[in-house]
Amino acid sequence: MPKKEITILFIGDIIGRYGRAITKKMIPAIKAKERIDFVITNGENSAAGYGITEKVYNELTGAGIDIITMGNHVWDKKEIVTKIDEYVDLLRPANYPKEVPGKEYLIKEKNKVKIGIINLCGRVFMPALDCPFKKAEKLIEEIKKSTNIILVDIHAEATSEKEAMGFFLDGKVSAVIGTHTHIQTADERVMPGGTAFIADAGMVGSEDSVIGMNKEQILKRFLTQMPHKFEVAKEGPAIFNAVLIKVDIATGKATSIQRIFERAPEEEIKEPAEN
Ligand SMILES: [Fe+2]
Ligand SMILES: [Fe+2]
Repeated sequence: MPKKEITILFIGDIIGRYGRAITKKMIPAIKAKERIDFVITNGENSAAGYGITEKVYNELTGAGIDIITMGNHVWDKKEIVTKIDEYVDLLRPANYPKEVPGKEYLIKEKNKVKIGIINLCGRVFMPALDCPFKKAEKLIEEIKKSTNIILVDIHAEATSEKEAMGFFLDGKVSAVIGTHTHIQTADERVMPGGTAFIADAGMVGSEDSVIGMNKEQILKRFLTQMPHKFEVAKEGPAIFNAVLIKVDIATGKATSIQRIFERAPEEEIKEPAEN
């Protein structure tokens, strides 16, 4: 009998090498418990906290991640400007100007099920881009020609903007998932029209940090108001934040969204051959 539902694992922003090591430990553990059809993550901080490189892209896709979304840090590693078209499973925010390299949306097929993904940046307390609401509306129309299973990653600072996007797209897409703040919110629900929503999926990295980065360096910046170098927190208890979304294949509507917040001691994450 063909299956009626798919399960999507959406992992919050992966922070640097430590976040990647945690992710590689956690994906098989979750797959052993749940039948996952698609794994999506936000990868804007996956290379040393800033952007993504070819090596890291290959590492994440090799670890079982099907689609990588980005955000305001998309261009931090200069090589992406020329290589983005080679990263077939990576999406930049769609509301950049049209001439910017990279895709505006992605349709991925697995086991005869197609899923459409859109990545958008918010505009509240963030660099000015095109309207994410109008851009979403336009792209959804295009994607619906191929599939009605659609996930939107709204990468934004303000929970109000993300929640507004949830309601704006309720009934039009399967899920609206927030990223960027790195702090998982507890507001996950299926909205009245059948769209799964959470204001922020959270992050994967060290809990002994300020949003994944070295806490001393961040504190120095707040205390002095002077520029300081920020580096990824490389030790401390590991946290893995994600959501599991179940979607009815026939209707494209979500039937459930469940938060995942796992902790593990640092010793369990250490890899013999870290790079
Ligand atoms: Fe981030
Ligand atoms: Fe961000």
